[in-house]
Amino acid sequence: MDGVIVIAVDGPVASGKGTLARHLAARTGLRHLDSGMIYRAVATLVLEDGADAGNAQACVRAAERLATADLERPGLRDQEIGSMASRIAAHREVRAALVEFQRCFGTTPPGAVIDGRDIGTVVFPDADVKFFVTAEARVRAERRHRELVARGETIDFSNVLEEIRERDRRDSERAWAPLRQADDAVAIDTTALDAAAAAQMALDIVCQRLGALSVLS
Ligand code: DC
Repeated sequence: MDGVIVIAVDGPVASGKGTLARHLAARTGLRHLDSGMIYRAVATLVLEDGADAGNAQACVRAAERLATADLERPGLRDQEIGSMASRIAAHREVRAALVEFQRCFGTTPPGAVIDGRDIGTVVFPDADVKFFVTAEARVRAERRHRELVARGETIDFSNVLEEIRERDRRDSERAWAPLRQADDAVAIDTTALDAAAAAQMALDIVCQRLGALSVLS
């Protein structure tokens, strides 16, 4: 892409993609977008409208009025908002309404590190570097459970594991832009890697590929 750098970081819930993307952004000077927050923000707008995630038209209306400030709404990281976001994200028209927001963010100089489910496959198929971050479901559920407990939520581990499996299934099996590894993405399995090691591995790859570019200097 001319003059900007886009790094795509895709993967399932709690795989460590967000931490890795934030680290890459901090180290490269690129901006960071957690695209999951877009779908979560739309979920809160749909809720405010008293509508249901199954109502595609109501979800599109909410997506069309999404503003950048909505990404700072309270409660976006709550478990039920994530689950609703996953259901909303299955509507093709909602995805179409949100793709421009993401492209606009990514193509604003100097570029961005964007994490999500379809960044390397649909939103930025020509991204400069692509990662696909995975980890076993049980390990992801442990991380997610720790995170929710630390935030004061009371929830059983078994519920978190079940929700993660359900979300994996919905995000991977949907007809439009399902979660999948792009053919040219580098896979990073964080099952036995801590966040710092995964981030360093990704940064090394970015430097190998883009080292000559001034944004990294
Ligand atoms: O990354 P997250 O858990 O915050 O994302 C919440 C939901 O949003 C996820 O289950 C599916 C959807 N999503 C998506 O479909 N495409 C993206 N690029 C990012 C998130």
